[in-house]
Amino acid sequence: MSIHIGARPGDIAETVLMPGDPYRAKWAAETFLDNPVCVNQVRGMLGFTGTWRGNRVTIHGSGMGMPSLSIYANELIRDYGARTLIRIGSAGAMQHHVKIRDIVIAMTASTISTPSRGIFRELNFAPVADFGLLEKAVQAARARGATFHAGGIYSSDVFYDERPDLTETMTRHGVLCVEMETAELYTVAARHGARALAVLTISDHLLTHEALPSEDRERSFGDMVEIALEAAFS
Ligand code: ADE
Repeated sequence: MSIHIGARPGDIAETVLMPGDPYRAKWAAETFLDNPVCVNQVRGMLGFTGTWRGNRVTIHGSGMGMPSLSIYANELIRDYGARTLIRIGSAGAMQHHVKIRDIVIAMTASTISTPSRGIFRELNFAPVADFGLLEKAVQAARARGATFHAGGIYSSDVFYDERPDLTETMTRHGVLCVEMETAELYTVAARHGARALAVLTISDHLLTHEALPSEDRERSFGDMVEIALEAAFS
């Protein structure tokens, strides 16, 4: 056991998919994995290990926001030996050409602050995806005919943002979408020599104020899960 994860040594696979929502972890494990077994439920944060096309994989929630993700990513890597971590989650579009349901593959994640901010002091560290995973995810998205964008995203500390000027600045600089976890995932993975990627589904639009109807969510999120699995194992 680690402080926040109740799994036994060996219960966690080297490859971990990380949705924010623990119930999405349960849904993804039950939908896509063979023989999923629940390996963690401490504080209601669910993790499942099973196999996908014969490959061992864990799907474990990260919670919302970078402080929560940071706890789980650190413990999965340091205490359980995870080496490949792929965030799967939703994001809000910041460009007109990025539409609801589109997939975004995050090359880098800009941020104002992460739990790692203090380490870097005056340095603006650029959190970056693992190129091999990114390349495989792009190939997988293309092969299945998904509408996808690869580029920079913004990891925010706030969902209810009181800085419209910041959104406008991000949009003007080509940032594709906003979510709340990836910058810290890429930073923690870099620190420990692990591979990381975020594959996101656009659930809402900051410019048009559209949102994905809840009945469409499962099918749209399914594409993202399969792209993440193919990126990890192809
Ligand atoms: N995740 C999904 N939509 C988001 C938004 N609009 N802001 C931050 N995180 C999000």
